[in-house]
Amino acid sequence: MVQAVAVPVTVKTRLGWSDDEINILDFARRLEDCGAALFTIHGRTRAQGYQGPAQWDWIRRVKQAVSVPVIANGDIDSLEAAIACLSQTGADGVMCSRGTLGYPYLVGEIDHWLQTGQRRPAPSLVDQLHCARDHLQGLWDYKGQRGLFQARKHMTWYVKGFAGSAELRQQLSCMTSLAEGLGLLEGAIAACSPQEQASGSPEIVAITGPVTSP
Ligand SMILES: Cc1cc2nc3c(=O)[nH]c(=O)nc-3n(C[C@H](O)[C@H](O)[C@H](O)COP(=O)(O)O)c2cc1C
Repeated sequence: MVQAVAVPVTVKTRLGWSDDEINILDFARRLEDCGAALFTIHGRTRAQGYQGPAQWDWIRRVKQAVSVPVIANGDIDSLEAAIACLSQTGADGVMCSRGTLGYPYLVGEIDHWLQTGQRRPAPSLVDQLHCARDHLQGLWDYKGQRGLFQARKHMTWYVKGFAGSAELRQQLSCMTSLAEGLGLLEGAIAACSPQEQASGSPEIVAITGPVTSP
């Protein structure tokens, strides 16, 4: 495949089939010999599914076993997790997954820390509600009614941890029109204090290439 295409061939894979059959070191070495340009390692086995902690120590071993860049994946659900994972594995970057559900700021927070060594201010509640509203509108624009149904679950990930969030979450989880969803979110934004409403939204960053620590 490496010879058949003009772009670098990268590989994303798990550790192996089960804890009894972890074959990632042999697999990664063989793929590197075949020309793989970068690995993203999800630190779970197939048998684990998405349960149990990601086994970052195996990612550390992969990093030591190959010479191409290694991106660590699994349980990167906060800036602290990203810092700990980079430190424990020596990986060249991290890949976020479920941690971004309802919190797309995570990638930007990690990127900001990597670029500056500083923690970026967290988004306010109003920032997050605006983001949820834009996400809902975007899903509608892109996918129509199907997007609206998909937005139901995304809205439940955004709307949590503040007074009235349980009721709002329940309402958004069964919205039947764009106007209804937007109205619910606009109502929640209007109910926030003027101070919260004046805050500016942190930039949301999408990174598709590898990042490296300073
Ligand atoms: C809804 C969902 C869809 C996913 N789709 C893909 C996919 O298409 N290809 C892939 O390699 N991994 C996919 N994954 C796996 C993630 O990329 C990631 O490896 C996994 O969720 C572990 O990271 P986490 O513990 O931070 O969630 C998906 C995960 C979720 C939750």
